Amino acid sequence: MSTTVAHNARVWNYWLGGKDHYPVDREVGNQVLEIFPGIGRVARADRAFLGRAVRYLAGEVGMRQFLDIGTGLPTADNTHEVAQRVAPDSRIVYIDNDPLVLVHARALLIGTVEGATDYINADARNPDKILLAAAKTLDFSQPIAIMMLGVLNFVLDTDEAVAIVDRLVGAVPAGSYLVLAHPTGELGGEENAESMKFWNENATPPITPRSRQEVTRFFRHLELLEPGIVSCSRWRPEPPDVDSLPAEVPQFGAVARKP
Ligand SMILES: C[S@@+](CC[C@H](N)C(=O)[O-])C[C@H]1O[C@@H](n2cnc3c(N)ncnc32)[C@H](O)[C@@H]1O
Repeated sequence: MSTTVAHNARVWNYWLGGKDHYPVDREVGNQVLEIFPGIGRVARADRAFLGRAVRYLAGEVGMRQFLDIGTGLPTADNTHEVAQRVAPDSRIVYIDNDPLVLVHARALLIGTVEGATDYINADARNPDKILLAAAKTLDFSQPIAIMMLGVLNFVLDTDEAVAIVDRLVGAVPAGSYLVLAHPTGELGGEENAESMKFWNENATPPITPRSRQEVTRFFRHLELLEPGIVSCSRWRPEPPDVDSLPAEVPQFGAVARKP
């Protein structure tokens, strides 16, 4: 595990106010903050979107299985905590390829007695490995919510990223869902795009923003739920934000159902 190069999982944790990062992560994290002071707001909006989407799926939809790819370091309100608070029998499989996330994975495995959690060290570019390993914990004959928040942006080739989503979506039954968050240079995110250029010259893994048109491709076999592909801060905001929409962040969020 490199402590001399900044890693995304650790810098994301730094921006979220966590404590699992090295000096090099803080240094690059601070330099990105100088270029794009709103990055902390993006990270918090993304986590809040995760919470709302999982609460909706576990609560209103009755989803009991979650496959969370690109988990990140354990933080407040991880997917299994949100889901099992609503439905203690929820089953969650986490996937990440960062060695430090693996070290901290134990925190993701303490779930309810009724439910189950698992952590698999795997690359999102290898959906077949993910599906095989996830099948130990998840029942693929029943609906599964596939969560890909802030991870497809590390698959630089859009055709490859679309093929990954297609493979995963193809493996789950009708009534399954895709929850997606993805950074963009749109929604007033010009500085975000600039900060990503800096990131790619100084940290790992390399990242790419995508346009709404590109992000729309991930949903080609799915039905988007209202309000569609929007700034993740504006996906079904909860009080106190419902009366006045929260500020946009340059990170798309969307939830879609497999028909
Ligand atoms: C920006 S964080 C997002 C974490 C969490 N999903 C969230 O929304 O807060 C991205 C995570 O994706 C992981 N990641 C990046 N590339 C990956 C890949 N090719 N396969 C699996 N995980 C990857 C990183 O290690 C990091 O933990």
